[in-house]
Amino acid sequence: MPQTGLAGRREALDRLHDGLRRVREGTRQTVFLSGAAGTGKTALVSAFLSEIPSETGIAVARGECLELSQAVEPFLPLLEAFGRLCRDANGRRFVPLFERYAPTWLAQMPSVLQTAEPGAAAPSRMLRESIEAVEALSAESCLLIVLEDLQWSDPATLDFIAAMTRPGSLSQLLLICSHRPGAGGRLERIVQQAAEHRTCIELKLDAFNCREVAGYLDRRFAPHAFPVALADTLQHMTEGNPRQVADLVEEWIQHGVLAMAEGVWRLTTPLAQFHVMPRIEMETAVAEVRAAAIGAPAFRAPEIRLAPAGPVLIPPRPIEETGWKPETHYTRSGDVNIAYQVVGEGPFDLVFVMGGYHMLSISGGIRPSRRS
Ligand SMILES: Nc1ncnc2c1ncn2[C@@H]1O[C@H](COP(=O)(O)OP(=O)(O)OP(=O)(O)O)[C@@H](O)[C@H]1O
Ligand SMILES: [Mg+2]
Repeated sequence: MPQTGLAGRREALDRLHDGLRRVREGTRQTVFLSGAAGTGKTALVSAFLSEIPSETGIAVARGECLELSQAVEPFLPLLEAFGRLCRDANGRRFVPLFERYAPTWLAQMPSVLQTAEPGAAAPSRMLRESIEAVEALSAESCLLIVLEDLQWSDPATLDFIAAMTRPGSLSQLLLICSHRPGAGGRLERIVQQAAEHRTCIELKLDAFNCREVAGYLDRRFAPHAFPVALADTLQHMTEGNPRQVADLVEEWIQHGVLAMAEGVWRLTTPLAQFHVMPRIEMETAVAEVRAAAIGAPAFRAPEIRLAPAGPVLIPPRPIEETGWKPETHYTRSGDVNIAYQVVGEGPFDLVFVMGGYHMLSISGGIRPSRRS
């Protein structure tokens, strides 16, 4: 089996392959994949698809729900999934089946059928047609439907999923449904019912633990000479959320905290200089600096952005390197004494937290330059 770019998740991948094996033996399976934002649901599905050998000829239909401010079109993710399937070279053979079993669907896919005349069709008719079309498709070929982000699903798509998880079907369909936790009553009831009928596999993705963050670093930075404790620090700062881990290391690369020297990735700042501040303290500190800066006549109110990962850790350039010594200003915010330095040009947008909570620097740029 080819190696994916994923850190960890081998067990989850194996369970997906298990589901696919049972489908190929003729038993329909639905996988409910849940995990908080950024835990890697989409990454896991992509890795799974890339591990399926192409010679199996499995047809893949993939669609996602969107977070829209207005009412969502019925069956939106399924229309996307079937549209993509029918445009795909491997899936064009299904168009006649849609013509026969799901004409109202085809009429809403102008990118597939040039003569299509989009018009509103009753959701109940579309539901019946979709069930018949999927039965016909998955009788002919092993079919994999991926529907993502069901926390934003329209009710009609949930009706389709409920129908697919009814017991007793023998078609070759693997349906993978991803959602964030707390997706809402209807979806949760469907998952619960499917679990009772044993027609689904439930997969829950958690944040990375320290070992998994270490595995992430090993894959992303090969070869590296990072101190072992870097993975623990990173896990602590991001609470192990894979998206935040990925974003934070990219930020560190940009700021030279992680750099390659002589073909090996290294940490350029000793870990002892990292001051890991819990997010809540960080937010309080930023609010205090903002309040103080508003009160100080010489300074505009800073637009301070917190990195999504929580604390921003950017070591300052050594003064010897830049030849510029920033001036330190002092102010108060309530009971708090604040010492701060302003570096760079442009709007304030970054907060440097260095070495201790007692000092915050507000910066308008990474490259220090003199300002009046
Ligand atoms: N197992 C992993 N190994 C390496 N990187 C990962 C892994 N899981 C997630 N990531 C990183 O985290 C990012 C976000 O993951 P992904 O988009 O899959 O999350 P998600 O659970 O689908 O989030 P959302 O609920 O917002 O859709 C990926 O682009 C990737 O950089
Ligand atoms: Mg996703």
